[in-house]
Amino acid sequence: MLNRVNAPNDLSAFWMPFTSNRQFKQTPRMLVAAKDMHYTTADGRQVMDGTAGLWCVNAGHCRPKIVEAIQHQAAELDYAPAFQMGHPIAFEFANRLVDMAPVGLNHVFFTNSGSESVETALKIALAYQRVKGQGARTRLIGRERGYHGVNFGGISVGGIVGNRKMFGTLLTGVDHLPHTHLPAKNQFTRGEPEHGAELADELERIVTLHDASTIAAVIVEPVSGSTGVLIPPKGYLQKLRQICDKHGILLIFDEVITGFGRLGTPFATDYFGVKPDIMITAKGVTNGVIPMGAVFVTSEIHDAFMTGPEHMIEFAHGYTYSGNPIACAAGLATLETYKEEGLLERGPEIAGYWEDALHSLKGEPHVIDIRNIGLVGAIELEPIAGEPTKRAFSAFLKAFERGALIRTTGDIIALSPPLIISKTQIDELIDHVREVLRAID
Ligand SMILES: Cc1ncc(COP(=O)(O)O)c(C=O)c1O
Repeated sequence: MLNRVNAPNDLSAFWMPFTSNRQFKQTPRMLVAAKDMHYTTADGRQVMDGTAGLWCVNAGHCRPKIVEAIQHQAAELDYAPAFQMGHPIAFEFANRLVDMAPVGLNHVFFTNSGSESVETALKIALAYQRVKGQGARTRLIGRERGYHGVNFGGISVGGIVGNRKMFGTLLTGVDHLPHTHLPAKNQFTRGEPEHGAELADELERIVTLHDASTIAAVIVEPVSGSTGVLIPPKGYLQKLRQICDKHGILLIFDEVITGFGRLGTPFATDYFGVKPDIMITAKGVTNGVIPMGAVFVTSEIHDAFMTGPEHMIEFAHGYTYSGNPIACAAGLATLETYKEEGLLERGPEIAGYWEDALHSLKGEPHVIDIRNIGLVGAIELEPIAGEPTKRAFSAFLKAFERGALIRTTGDIIALSPPLIISKTQIDELIDHVREVLRAID
C-alpha cells in the first residue's frame, strides 16, 4: 500500500489538535488500522474503541458498504463545484436525511464539520431574523459548559473556559444560560435527572435584561457531551422550547454528538419529544469516515430566504466542500448501514444493559458520580488536590495500555462506544475501566 508509515521517525512537524503534544511525542499512541469495535496499534495490539473514535464512528470501523461507496465515488465523480452547480448524490443524500429527520426539519445545508455546522446555524438564525424584518434580533444565547466546536461563533456561545480565554473578546452580544449540572441533587442519577428544570427559567431573566426583540436564537446541546455528559433535567428542554416560542426566539439544538443514534433514538429531538427550529449535525452523518456536517432547518426558515430576484444568491454562505460527492456517498452508505442493522434505534434493547454496567462502577475508587443516557455515559472522578485532570488522564493512559480507548474531559471519563457494541463487549469495556480505577492513584 502507498505511503503506509506505521512508525514515523520524526513527530515534530505535526502540531496535534487538542493534544498534550510534548507528552504524546515522548510516548506516542499510534493507531494503524481498525475493524468494527477495535483499533490496531502500531505495535500490533487490539484496542477496544470505547469512544466511537471521537463520538462519531457510530456503525463501527471500516464497514464494507461505506468503504465500497467511497471507493466507487472517488473513481466516478471525485469533485464537483459546490456553488451554482449540482450533482445528483448531494440531492439524494439531502432527501434521505430529511426523510429520517424529525418532522418539519425539511431542508439541509451541508458543511464539513461540527464547528462549521454551528457557524452555519448561527448565521442562518441571524439572517432569518433579518429577512423576516426583525433585524434588531442580533443576540445569541448559549449555555455554560456548552461545546459548539472551536470557531469564533461556536466558542462565543460555548461555555468551556479553557476553549475561550485565549481568544480575545469573541462575538459581542452573547449571553449564557447556567449549566444544568447539579451534583449535590442529582448524583448517580440513572437517565434524566429529577432536579433542575427551573434552570430554563433563567432564559426569562435574560429576556428581561435585554428584551426579546434583541434576541435571535438560543443554542444548546440537548445532552452536553464534551463537557462531561450532562443530561438535561426532566422537563428542562420542554421549558426552553416554551420560553423561546413565547418570545419569538429560535431554538437551535446542537446534535453533533446526540444525532444518529447516540441516545438510542435517531436524534435527541426524538428522545425528548422537543423540536428545535434548527438542528446541527456532523460526526455520525458519515460515520466519521469523511468530514461532513448537515444543518437541518424548517420550511418556514428556508422559505423566508426564497424571495427577491431569482438570479440572486439567497444566502451568502457555503463551503468549497459543501455536499462533496465522496462525503455524500459515504453518508448514503452510512444511512443504509444504520438502517439494515437497526443501529439508530438500539435504545430499548441495549440502553438498560449499558446503564446497569456503568452504574456497577459505583463504589470503585475515586468515583464521585456516574451519568448515563442511551449509549453514552460518564464516570466522574474526584480530582487530585491541586492537580485537576491528572487523575483522569492517568486513567486514559492506563486504559489504552490495557486495551481500551476511553475519553476524558476534566476529571470525567466519557464513554460512547460504536452502536454495534454487544453486551459481552460492554462487560469487557466496563471491566477495563474498573481495573483502571483500581490501578491508578
Ligand atoms: C456538540 C458539538 N458541537 C460541535 C462540535 C464540533 O465538531 P467538529 O470537531 O467536527 O468541528 C462537537 C465536537 O465534538 C460537538 O460535540
